[in-house]
Amino acid sequence: MNKQWVIGILLVVLAGAVMFMMQKQSSEPIVYDDEQKGLNKQIVIYFSHVVAENTPKGLAAQKFAQLVEEKTNGRVKVEVFSNGSLYSDEEEIDALLRGDVQMIAPSVSKVTQLIPEWQVLDLPFIFENYSDVEKVFTGEVGKKLLAMLEEKGIKGLALWGNGFKQMTSNRHLLVEPSDFSGLKIRVMPSEVIEKQFQLLGATPVVVPFNRVYESLEKHKFDGQENTISNIYSKGFYQFQSYLTISNHGYLGYAVMVNKAFWYRLPKDIQEKIMEAIQETTIWNLKQSKLQNEEELAQMKQNKRMHIYELTKKERETWKQKFAPLYKEFEREFGSELLRQMKEAE
Ligand code: LMR
Repeated sequence: MNKQWVIGILLVVLAGAVMFMMQKQSSEPIVYDDEQKGLNKQIVIYFSHVVAENTPKGLAAQKFAQLVEEKTNGRVKVEVFSNGSLYSDEEEIDALLRGDVQMIAPSVSKVTQLIPEWQVLDLPFIFENYSDVEKVFTGEVGKKLLAMLEEKGIKGLALWGNGFKQMTSNRHLLVEPSDFSGLKIRVMPSEVIEKQFQLLGATPVVVPFNRVYESLEKHKFDGQENTISNIYSKGFYQFQSYLTISNHGYLGYAVMVNKAFWYRLPKDIQEKIMEAIQETTIWNLKQSKLQNEEELAQMKQNKRMHIYELTKKERETWKQKFAPLYKEFEREFGSELLRQMKEAE
């Protein structure tokens, strides 16, 4: 056999071997490793918020992240950034609109700058109790309010709760409207809240949440309003030893995602996220009440705190004082939203 024949035979054998291997491979199913979550390209949602982890919003964000991961078998990962570590409350709505984060949950007061009608939720004494809050937040009025976000480039997913707001001061207990006279009070950015304090003869000053601790420590303010959970978890009580249980307002949150991001998500993923948000909302509205109650009990143990609960009569006096706010709201936005709120409760 000459050399050319040998090379020819070798080439034919080699080609046969390659074809055999290829056929074998194609007849075998490809085995995917279920643990390898990146196989189907994971969707990551950055969820930024400004409060501590162990608060109604912080805990709800973590629960939501866990539920989404479970329900989508790891296709969607929600990364939660607490304590304003990514954006402060002054920055987070813009960051969402730019698409720098996909999800935030600012207090409803901060949404009033975008949609003034949302001030309805900031009206003092609009909610009598937690059950009223739940009915409005999870019912038709809640849906209507969330739908208003669409034209601003935001998809509103749900309304979560923190709890009822109380009054604190470093001066004295705030019981009669006249006790507020001349005080400088830190507030969230919401016109109706500012007017509430003006009606009491105080001077409201808007300060972002991440600067409240420092400004209270430096005695830049005589008081502020917030939930027990925020007062406790952020340590505001250390500089505000007078606490009035007034339950005069409610601190709720608008859970929202960037609209363009939302509508790019596959339908099945949107459905799973909605399931997760609904479960979290029901849990959050119950858990937030318990947490505020437990932390109030803790604060009552603190000998340096002076805690006073308004009587029914005193609450009535406050309500009368705040009546002009309702008239003003009606003048500006009509009575429909207010009527629907009252009907839902
Ligand atoms: C505040 O600014 O006091 C609150 O809105 C903070 C929060 O998100 O609970």
